[in-house]
Amino acid sequence: MSASWAEWTAPHTPGEIVGAYDALAGDYDEMFEGPRSLAEDDTIRAWIGRVEGRVLDVGCGTGHAARILDIPPDDYLGVDPSQEMVRQARLRSPGHRFRVGGVRASGDVFDTVLSLYGSLGHDACLGCTLNAITLHTNPGARFVGMFFGQGSKGRSRVDSHGIPRWIVRDPLGLARLFTLRGWGIEWVRGFGAWWRDHEEGALSRLGWRAMFAAERHLSRPEDSYHYVVSARKRA
Ligand SMILES: C[S@@+](CC[C@H](N)C(=O)[O-])C[C@H]1O[C@@H](n2cnc3c(N)ncnc32)[C@H](O)[C@@H]1O
Repeated sequence: MSASWAEWTAPHTPGEIVGAYDALAGDYDEMFEGPRSLAEDDTIRAWIGRVEGRVLDVGCGTGHAARILDIPPDDYLGVDPSQEMVRQARLRSPGHRFRVGGVRASGDVFDTVLSLYGSLGHDACLGCTLNAITLHTNPGARFVGMFFGQGSKGRSRVDSHGIPRWIVRDPLGLARLFTLRGWGIEWVRGFGAWWRDHEEGALSRLGWRAMFAAERHLSRPEDSYHYVVSARKRA
């Protein structure tokens, strides 16, 4: 399967992807506790800014977005196809609501839709899911999602576990999926180019925060580990 704006990394079935996350779930959070991950979270938090109204977290995993963005339990629903990831989410954030499934399983209408660290990159029919997101959001709703870019190839933490995903070649093509459905693009930013250009040692010397500040002005956004899309549904 392929599209002009992106490519699949491997043949797969959705069941195989979910099975891979089921197997990873118990160790998942531990993989992202280092200073690099914390700095990534700081950047994402700053880029997202204020989170408004009722929030749907698509591919919520262990509920990371609810924690780093400090989303009140009453405003939050996380959905994920992996039963084991949802089990971990419930253990870590017992006050928040989580459901196994996708957008349609939410059964509600939202003001903010989040999909952080590449979850929708695993969706074989991203266009279908964006249709569902459009149906399940209020006018003026905001979407913020992260999609794997070419800089993640061979370096992605999900690569090493053999989990297939879309790799975005053309961020404008990705943005078009939103504009076609009546969403305005607020911004698209590259994220994580340092994976390619910087060794861990050099990065530590320079300082994580300085590095992240620098990459807001990426000169080669095509090297991005992720593309972050912020879009607003027309009122
Ligand atoms: C890299 S993790 C990110 C989890 C979480 N968003 C975070 O920020 O930590 C990817 C998640 O996407 C989920 N996933 C797999 N296939 C999906 C799909 N088709 N749609 C949405 N999420 C999916 C996985 O089960 C996994 O929990």
